[in-house]
Amino acid sequence: MTAFDALKTQLQAAPKTWLVTGVAGFIGSNLAEALLQLDQHVVGLDSFATGHQHNLDQVQASVGAQRWARFSFIRGDIRDPDTCQAVCKGIDYVLHQAALGSVPRSLEDPLTTHAANNTGYINMLVAARDAKVKRFVYAASSSTYGDHPGLPKVEDVIGKPLSPYAVTKLVNELYADVFGRCYGMESIGLRYFNIFGRRQDPAGAYAAVVPKWVSSMIHNEPVYINGDGETSRDFCYIDNVIQANLLAATSSHADAANQVYNVAVGDRTTLNQLYEAIRALLAPRFPHLADAKPVYRDFRAGDVRHSLADISKAQTRLGYAPTHRIGEGLAEAMDWYVTDLG
Ligand SMILES: NC(=O)c1ccc[n+]([C@@H]2O[C@H](COP(=O)([O-])OP(=O)(O)OC[C@H]3O[C@@H](n4cnc5c(N)ncnc54)[C@H](O)[C@@H]3O)[C@@H](O)[C@H]2O)c1
Repeated sequence: MTAFDALKTQLQAAPKTWLVTGVAGFIGSNLAEALLQLDQHVVGLDSFATGHQHNLDQVQASVGAQRWARFSFIRGDIRDPDTCQAVCKGIDYVLHQAALGSVPRSLEDPLTTHAANNTGYINMLVAARDAKVKRFVYAASSSTYGDHPGLPKVEDVIGKPLSPYAVTKLVNELYADVFGRCYGMESIGLRYFNIFGRRQDPAGAYAAVVPKWVSSMIHNEPVYINGDGETSRDFCYIDNVIQANLLAATSSHADAANQVYNVAVGDRTTLNQLYEAIRALLAPRFPHLADAKPVYRDFRAGDVRHSLADISKAQTRLGYAPTHRIGEGLAEAMDWYVTDLG
């Protein structure tokens, strides 16, 4: 039995109350769904800055009426300290996902990214401290590795941030560490690498690569690759992220808390390989993709060239054991993509 299987049994026997911020977004809605499937009580907070009501509707449909009754949603903004104080009351574990993602967005509008990702973040941290939650798990980012060229990325060797977004995520880690030292608060930062899966938004200028490409291919629109396509990433399926969050919140390993962890698979995939993997999965359903080719354009500012995680720290201290490599994740998500993006 894996650590995650044991945890699921334990949680179902003794349900807890969880706060998921950013619950109408991609990762937050998947966390809420997984927790409700395990009969947990979930409070969800979102301002709909980038999240969508239809994500919550999908969760409701998937978990059924009985489990949905254990969910309460608060529409609110983490930039407001009173909102954060109110939602943290009575919470056992916080899974803090609310933030403005995207490197390009932060380059165009650093103030708005800072307000959500830093002011909002510290509001949440203070509220979680005041409410004496058991643990505060937050979405950190692989962008924190910045300009450090080393591969694979190991948690305590970072470079300088390459974008305002990366600065905000590094600052999150610094605050969490200081709140541990100064107030005895327990937190865990999960440095997500490139996460993909159901309910990731394909729309807009700041969309992530996987849903954007799937959507473009289905609709026979050009797929753009920034650079030569040999840029590489450690793509990580959403189910691995759910597992990492639940393990991080509850791990009783003596050295688990007040740490940051890479959340990835430990596989390196180039953009050219990603293009071909998606094209091959979609081609049987969309004949126009039989010999489709991407369009190459300039490299994008603020992007790192290669990213690959060492996941041994999360394996050792949290019992993290990713269940999906990129191919398995893409294959599993494809029905959702075709139905939802088609
Ligand atoms: N998706 C990835 O590959 C990835 C990689 C690294 C880190 N992250 C981090 O993971 C978290 C979740 O990302 P996601 O991909 O699900 O993005 P998302 O945009 O789908 O979800 C973020 C959610 O936060 C909400 N939100 C934003 N600002 C808010 C505010 N001020 N108050 C309340 N709610 C607010 C949005 O409305 C949205 O629903 C973010 O912190 C992001 O920085 C994601």
